Amino acid sequence: MAKKYYITTPLYYVNAKPHIGHSYTQIACDSVARFMRQAGREVFFMTGTDEHGEKIEQAAIAAGLGAGEEQKFVDSIVPDFKALWMKLNIKYDHFIRTTDAYHVKAVQAFLEKLYREEKIYKKNYSGWFCTPCETFWTQTQAADGICPECKRPLEKLDEANYFLKTSEYQKWLIDYINSNPDFIKPDFRRNEVLGFLNSETLTDLCITRPKSRMRWGIEVPFDKEYVTYVWFDALINYASGIGYPDDMKRFASLWPADMQVMGKDIIRHHAIYWVIMLHALGIEPPKAIFAHGWWVFKGEKMSKSKGNVVDPAEMVSKYGVDPYRYFLLKEVQFGMDGAFSEEAFIARFNSDLANDIGNLLSRTLTMAEKYFAGRAPAIARNDFGNKKAEEIAAEAAKAAIVMEEAMPDLNFTLALSGIWNVISLANKFIEDSKPWVLAKENKQDELALVIYTLLEALRTIAIGIYSFMPETAQKIWAQLGMEGSVESVPFSDAKTWGKLTPGTKVSKSGPLFPRIEIKK
Ligand code: MSP
Repeated sequence: MAKKYYITTPLYYVNAKPHIGHSYTQIACDSVARFMRQAGREVFFMTGTDEHGEKIEQAAIAAGLGAGEEQKFVDSIVPDFKALWMKLNIKYDHFIRTTDAYHVKAVQAFLEKLYREEKIYKKNYSGWFCTPCETFWTQTQAADGICPECKRPLEKLDEANYFLKTSEYQKWLIDYINSNPDFIKPDFRRNEVLGFLNSETLTDLCITRPKSRMRWGIEVPFDKEYVTYVWFDALINYASGIGYPDDMKRFASLWPADMQVMGKDIIRHHAIYWVIMLHALGIEPPKAIFAHGWWVFKGEKMSKSKGNVVDPAEMVSKYGVDPYRYFLLKEVQFGMDGAFSEEAFIARFNSDLANDIGNLLSRTLTMAEKYFAGRAPAIARNDFGNKKAEEIAAEAAKAAIVMEEAMPDLNFTLALSGIWNVISLANKFIEDSKPWVLAKENKQDELALVIYTLLEALRTIAIGIYSFMPETAQKIWAQLGMEGSVESVPFSDAKTWGKLTPGTKVSKSGPLFPRIEIKK
């Protein structure tokens, strides 16, 4: 049986339209999921929306809806997310909404169990709360009444609430992180989390809100005067979405998650609270948590009020889906912050896509048409001392091996540079071997070797780029005359040289990525 691979994204708040940050996590997870499927894993890729809490309640009011109409509001926003994911070719297996009945039931079962086991207790709470971040802060963390995260004013709270005995698990968690070095990635994020855990005593997590202050949430099963704190509610999706608690057989077949991806701003919620929530119930932590960086715009954090939010739908309409997917994963090492600019986007489009890969395909197919009547030539033997053709085959195999190592680590830049090494070498091979001279000199066999090598390189490139640019990969596949879809080809085919049958009819169509001319 194929080994499973369970990967998750955070659940996005539905108080605003999806922007570049949301699309970044989606594209990263989709690329890994696509690669894992090619590599033969049984993938379960889950994403969804976070629909409860004060933030959503306020957004509903701002949208002109009254109390009790929150569901109507969230129902009106969710299709925007789904439409964008479709536009971006995000092939998820399940979309979970925190307002789904099975999720609500799971959260209540989670709470009930923790309460029965006396891991939850009630006490008076006095402290600070940040509504936009949906986060509680202690007096020391927020001495000046300003949110340490988003720098907005905090709300002072003084009320009775239910708490999870988080502090009891601090030592266990520190030991766990120390003895599982691959649990939090990248390494510097693990050090940050450890640094925090070693320097501050965890306060017990407040997991409820009294209905007298906020009603839009999941009712606490053992006290009808309360709703569940939105983070406690939302984190449980990773379990409820795979069967907890009704189908524990299915849950056990997918948990622990293999990879949970999120932005750096919410790593603590995942690496600390989520893991402790699970541990309190005797469930093991996910295998890995990866926190990616943030996209900034002209050095500033993107925000609606600053009017500098990059709209993924607009980028896709302007430049196409694959260039957008490619740019986000290539421009910045996954895990680091990145600066977004349309100029950088266009520069990369023209150099990596129009020039490198686009030209390689178009030149190769033009020559196959011109010299071999549009068919992949048959090669007799490489006995022309053509070392360069061998080098390309070796480079293609190397790129596939690099990719197999890089993708489980979400090292997209490394995976892509391996593929681009093959592309550059192949383009250089055209310059060095001068097929037009070979044709003139009637060196048919050597010419056949050159063209076959280029076509084969493109076949392996198509398999490699499929994870990142599925549509482009399929276009190359079809133009090479390969049958079926590149999606159904096992990744190992990228390591096997010679799979393109001589005589295959290739068919050139328009340029993959027409150059973008910059208007001065
Ligand atoms: N609802 C919570 C997550 C609950 S998970 C159980 C949430 N939602 S969010 O919509 O605010 O953010 C979702 C993700 O988008 C986070 O991983 C966040 O880091 C990411 N991004 C939001 N803006 C971003 C950028 N400008 N750049 C990159 N990613 C950022 O938090």
